Amino acid sequence: MGPGLAAHHAVMRCIRGEKVSKTMEVLNKTRERIGVLEELLAERFSCRAFKAEAVPRPIIERILRAAQRTASWCNSQPWQVIIASGEAKERFRKEIYATASSGAPDDGDFPFPREYRGIYLARRRESGFQLYNTLGIPRGDKLAYAKQSLENFNFFGAPNVAIVHTDEALGVYGAIDCGAYVGNFMLAAQALGLGVIAQAALAHQSGLIRRHFRLGNDRCVVCGISFGYPDRDHRINSYRTSRAEISDAATFVDE
Ligand SMILES: Cc1cc2nc3c(=O)[nH]c(=O)nc-3n(C[C@H](O)[C@H](O)[C@H](O)COP(=O)(O)O)c2cc1C
Repeated sequence: MGPGLAAHHAVMRCIRGEKVSKTMEVLNKTRERIGVLEELLAERFSCRAFKAEAVPRPIIERILRAAQRTASWCNSQPWQVIIASGEAKERFRKEIYATASSGAPDDGDFPFPREYRGIYLARRRESGFQLYNTLGIPRGDKLAYAKQSLENFNFFGAPNVAIVHTDEALGVYGAIDCGAYVGNFMLAAQALGLGVIAQAALAHQSGLIRRHFRLGNDRCVVCGISFGYPDRDHRINSYRTSRAEISDAATFVDE
C-alpha cells in the first residue's frame, strides 16, 4: 500500500470513528432520557399519606411550568388549576369534608363510570383489596370502606390540593387534555421528590367547588390532585398496583 492510500484509510478510519462515537453519544443520550422516564413511571404510585410540611411555592411553580407544556387539541390548553395551601386549603377541606360526610348527593360535571364490568371490575376489586388489606380492613366491611373513602375529602392529609377545571364547551376532549395535564403534573411532582394522587372523588362535589372558589358556570371540575412530601413509613403507601401486559392493551396491525 502506498503512503497515499494509507493516509486515505487513516482518514476514513478517523471519519468512521468520529461517526461511530457520535452515534454512540446519541444512543447513550437516548438511553439516558428514556431511562429517566421509565424510572419515574416505575417508581410512581398514588400517595395516600403525607408529611405536614408544605411544598414551597417555587417547587409548585416548577411543576406547573413543566405541566404547562402538555399537548392539547388545537393547543387550546383548557386546564385551569387552583392550588390551595395553608389556611385556604383548610377552609376548603372542612367544607368539602362536611358535605361529603353528610351523604350529600353526587354533583359531578362529568358522568361517572356507569358500570365497572369484566376485567375492569376485576382490576378495580384487586386494587381496592390491596388498599383495604394494607390497612387491615376486613373484606365486606362496608362501613370501614366508606370511612376510608371519606379520606379523599381530607386530601389524605396532604398540605396542598390542586383543582383542575376545564371549559364546558370543549366537552370530553377538553377533559382529555386535562387528563394529559394531570399525568404530566404527577410525573413532574414525582421527579421533584413529591408524593401525589389524582382524585376524581373530589369532582363528586363540583358545585361546591365552583361556589367555594367562585368559578363561573362555564367551568367544569375534572379532578383534584393532592400533593406534598410522602410519608414513606405509612403502610398505606407500601403497596404497588399491577399492570396488564402490553399484549392485553395493544394490537399491532401491519399486514
Ligand atoms: C383520573 C384519576 C382519578 C383518580 N381518583 C382517585 C380517587 O378519587 N381516590 C383515590 O384514592 N385514588 C384515585 N386515583 C388513583 C387510582 O386509584 C390509581 O392511580 C390506580 O389504582 C393505580 O395505582 P397507582 O396510581 O398507585 O399506580 C385516581 C387516578 C386517576 C388517574
